[in-house]
Amino acid sequence: MELAGWTMVITGAGRGFGRTLALRAGRLGARLYLSARSADAARSVAAEVVADSGASAEGFACDLADAAAVRAFAGAVAARTGQVDVLVNNGARYLDGADLWDAEDEAIADALAGGATGTVLTVKHFLPLLRASAGADVVNLISSVAEPRNHRSLSHPAFYAAKGAQAGLADILSARLRPEGIRVVSLYPPDFTDSDPLAAEESAKRTADQPLSGASVADCVLFAIAQPRDCFIRSFHFEQL
Ligand SMILES: NC(=O)c1ccc[n+]([C@@H]2O[C@H](COP(=O)([O-])OP(=O)(O)OC[C@H]3O[C@@H](n4cnc5c(N)ncnc54)[C@H](OP(=O)(O)O)[C@@H]3O)[C@@H](O)[C@H]2O)c1
Repeated sequence: MELAGWTMVITGAGRGFGRTLALRAGRLGARLYLSARSADAARSVAAEVVADSGASAEGFACDLADAAAVRAFAGAVAARTGQVDVLVNNGARYLDGADLWDAEDEAIADALAGGATGTVLTVKHFLPLLRASAGADVVNLISSVAEPRNHRSLSHPAFYAAKGAQAGLADILSARLRPEGIRVVSLYPPDFTDSDPLAAEESAKRTADQPLSGASVADCVLFAIAQPRDCFIRSFHFEQL
């Protein structure tokens, strides 16, 4: 697929999956606005994209746990473009520990503020730009922990709660934005590996006994947004090893 002429926003793009997707989308010609908690991290990935593919990419600081920062990020993007075609809600703090007491109160509050409230506010403040697109997509990187009664992960209950909030938001927005032609695509992956983002051509060699890779999750995102506009893929779920 080609993303030339598409404007894409990716949160939490300073490393991991956000970086993977940014590099892949850059190779397909998307114009990218990337955010990370650290402006340096976002700018560094933007520079990597430019060097790799020559795509247009710019990095911004945005701590999703800070409502003013979310508004400022959306405002900065609005000052540069009149529309956003794809918003990828990727940034979310991971919290480890099966027991509620395994994390400090501040870490719990931050995980919920960034993953839950931050996702709601990001969609809210990018909505005017998404509405200006002829066919926009909101893509949510959720997690298998948000599947009903999926108790396999040892992540912290607050992480379950943050991802559950994202799933609830995605569910209602998918229905409410459909009449406007805006698709809400959510992915519920289990743990996936941080594979080489630029080794997409390697994906044909991957086998069923290997864990899911970030590159394969990126393939799912790119597949979903490439579908014709009558095809509203709501969610991706994965069989675990
Ligand atoms: N990797 C997996 O196995 C897996 C499985 C299921 C779902 N997911 C979801 O997929 C997405 C990306 O995964 P990943 O593996 O790249 O995640 P990760 O390694 O857990 O990193 C989390 C990302 O979110 C960012 N982030 C954390 N708190 C933030 C905040 N308050 N504001 C802005 N950004 C924040 C981090 O940025 P910093 O660099 O600033 O920390 C980092 O880029 C996440 O939503 C994750 O929950 C991942």
